[in-house]
Amino acid sequence: MTNKTLFEPYKLGSLTLSNRIVMAPLTRNRAGAGFIPGELAAEYYRQRASAGLLISEATQISQQGQGYQDTPGIYSQAQIDGWRKVTAAVHAKGGRIFLQLWHVGRVSHVDLQENGAAPVAPSAIRAETKTFVNDGFFDVSEPRALALDELPGIVNDFRQAAANAIAAGFDGVEIHGANGYLLDQFARDSANRRTDAYGGSVENRARLMLEVAAAVVEKIGAERTGIRISPVSPANGVSSSDAQAQFDYIVDQLNSLGIVYIHVVEGATGGSRDVAPFDFGSLRRRFKNTYIANNGYDLDLATSRLAEDKADLFAFGRPFIANPDLVERLEAGAPLAQVNPATIYGGGAVGYTDYPAIAASRS
Ligand SMILES: Cc1cc2nc3c(=O)[nH]c(=O)nc-3n(C[C@H](O)[C@H](O)[C@H](O)COP(=O)(O)O)c2cc1C
Repeated sequence: MTNKTLFEPYKLGSLTLSNRIVMAPLTRNRAGAGFIPGELAAEYYRQRASAGLLISEATQISQQGQGYQDTPGIYSQAQIDGWRKVTAAVHAKGGRIFLQLWHVGRVSHVDLQENGAAPVAPSAIRAETKTFVNDGFFDVSEPRALALDELPGIVNDFRQAAANAIAAGFDGVEIHGANGYLLDQFARDSANRRTDAYGGSVENRARLMLEVAAAVVEKIGAERTGIRISPVSPANGVSSSDAQAQFDYIVDQLNSLGIVYIHVVEGATGGSRDVAPFDFGSLRRRFKNTYIANNGYDLDLATSRLAEDKADLFAFGRPFIANPDLVERLEAGAPLAQVNPATIYGGGAVGYTDYPAIAASRS
């Protein structure tokens, strides 16, 4: 048992976070034309800046990496300029913010791709999932398998996007290695049937994720590089026959790279924490820097897991949608507001920046 509390400062690399509560990445589909985050996004993140660390909504590193309508990018100058408003707003409130770097791989739709091209994937296997596009939920499109000589370009897009994020004022980046998107598609054998150096063995299936991590570290430094993984999540139709071996190996390699955190979705993303047998403690023991735990946490679970030293930081997703002042509410033991499901994806201020803080909602 430890005497740590959720509401004390925490040192993440060279940053001092004001508490151990992290805002998990949350896609909200409200970017403007050109996939640029605007003033409204700056206001939304500013309202939530009392989290010790904010992780931005997933942000595509290229047009090819986009899978949903109106999600922001980090590959054009106008996007960098848009994000600068967000980071300035968060920093002005004393907050810290990382950008989540995203390539969706096969979880996309031809209407989002350049010239209606097929989305790309490790193998030409369509995902059993839907995407939000054309103002509705539709089946994802049939993907094509990436050629071996295309992979360095993808690594390079991640590298450049990380540099762009730093140019936009972010404190660091989180590589999206979770939830059945491109890097997770390579890692999980249900989606990866390749017979080259990027498929087959545990080492081969980890290769793209680790090359991306190494490239980002080389570009912006290990202290500013984190990664998100979801070893047993069936999100977006992926599964593994050997999740423990796969992710033990990945985490050992990430540990060698010295990245600042691993952010682990424990269980099915947004669902059961016990979806499949998996020893998350094994990842915790292997990784020497910060372990961020996510999925279904509330105050009691986070408090007890911290006391048992199972994690350093705790990421909350859905609770941050309707509770901009989640940290203050948890600390005060105040009730949490409920999310309106109709206004989660797309739209404007309603259901985005109009959830009041508790002091405001009392008056
Ligand atoms: C509306 C919504 C959007 C999400 N967007 C992202 C995202 O952009 N990137 C990501 O890694 N996870 C995303 N997730 C998953 C959350 O970050 C989180 O893992 C999940 O909600 C479980 O945590 P919770 O129980 O605290 O909500 C999203 C979840 C929701 C509900």
